Amino acid sequence: MQIPPLAGLATYEEAARVGYSVEENVARFLRYAWIEKRAMEVGLYWLASTPEWEVKEALGLHLSLDADHAADIRVRVGEMRNPVPRMDVCPDPAIDQFFDELLTAQDTVEKIVGLYGVLKPALLAAYRAHFAKSNPIMDHPTRYMIKHILVDEEEMNVWGAMAVTAVTHTPSAQAKADQWQAHLNAFLQNMGGIMGDQEKPAELPASRAVEPFTPDFFPQRDDRFAMKWNFINPQRQVSMNEAVPLDERIIALMCRRVVEMDVPEYMTRIIAESKGEPWEYYVELTRQLWDEVRHAMLGSIYFENRGVDWKKHIAIHPGMSIRLGTLNVKDAHNVLYAIEQNLMPAKTGKKLEYQISVNANSPLAAQIQDYDWADEVLHVHTGRKWLLPKTGLPSGEAVKKGWALRAETVDVLEKYDDRGEQKNWWPEFVQEVLGRETAHEEFNLVRM
Ligand SMILES: [Fe+2]
Ligand SMILES: [Fe+2]
Ligand SMILES: [Fe+2]
Repeated sequence: MQIPPLAGLATYEEAARVGYSVEENVARFLRYAWIEKRAMEVGLYWLASTPEWEVKEALGLHLSLDADHAADIRVRVGEMRNPVPRMDVCPDPAIDQFFDELLTAQDTVEKIVGLYGVLKPALLAAYRAHFAKSNPIMDHPTRYMIKHILVDEEEMNVWGAMAVTAVTHTPSAQAKADQWQAHLNAFLQNMGGIMGDQEKPAELPASRAVEPFTPDFFPQRDDRFAMKWNFINPQRQVSMNEAVPLDERIIALMCRRVVEMDVPEYMTRIIAESKGEPWEYYVELTRQLWDEVRHAMLGSIYFENRGVDWKKHIAIHPGMSIRLGTLNVKDAHNVLYAIEQNLMPAKTGKKLEYQISVNANSPLAAQIQDYDWADEVLHVHTGRKWLLPKTGLPSGEAVKKGWALRAETVDVLEKYDDRGEQKNWWPEFVQEVLGRETAHEEFNLVRM
């Protein structure tokens, strides 16, 4: 047996097959990068307003991956063309037209079917075809890049296919989905498909995008969240109370994790309405957003593991997201900055939370807090890099300003508190999970 040539990437015969030229590559990459950017934006526009928790989880992951994909493609274009063509402009108005239609989705069925029944499968097919046609040696960097994007896009499509099945299980939902899919497919075809090289349809259906798109960032929860409008937050005080036994402090800490979904909810607006930033901004901020989705997931994992119906027994409300929605995006980001810097002091912050869970002898909670801490250190750096220069303030001043801004929004929830009973749910929760009375005595029942 001979040692294989060409580093094992291809046979000589395969390597002699002519693939895309540099020009053909660049023309396609400009489209893919724009499509990935717009897919990221769709996720940002939909995460808060889509009630289903599982959709929020997936959108958080997928929008951050799409920001990464756009970043990779931008780098590859830069390697092939000097000067680098502009990548902050739409390469084909028909692409934007497709996304304008997609954004008219009215409900979860249309959102899921549009994104995961139309766009994502087409994108996956385009990447597969591109990979297959690229020359394995001459264009190895492209293949290397697409191979890694494909891993993500394949996983997204697996989730997406199951989600489409789940939301179209009734005949009426299926009929509505079919109609919507046909509508969007016509607009996809009108852009020549993802690559732009397919034949366009003779006629387009009437556009649904008659009004300019205005994003709705108001956070929603589905009806499994029994206390979604109860803004009382006992968990922080209980977790910090040294007079409370560790097993109760741990469940308080895990409540603090699971309610974190409101962080990505308000971050969507901060990122989506920050236009014209360097692409790195979107990559790093969407990564942070996804981390916050994961922090909420971590709390849910803990309670699922203990067999607790967390959606029913914990007030997982979107209070901070509603409050920060009343500030401009720079000020909202400034509040996030203050909150995150505040997690660093060892005696009150993430280190303490980690130690509580180690002391409580809960390996699962300890690991959750260990990674939560690591993520928050990263977020402190992200905030220093992107928010501080915008404020023109030294860090200490920016923190003070963040707390002041947060305090300004304290009355915002009054407008919404008649949507549900405002009550201290902690004693019942402790009874449910630990089978005894809470050891915490004095509750501060301020709405958060
Ligand atoms: Fe992507
Ligand atoms: Fe977090
Ligand atoms: Fe964070």
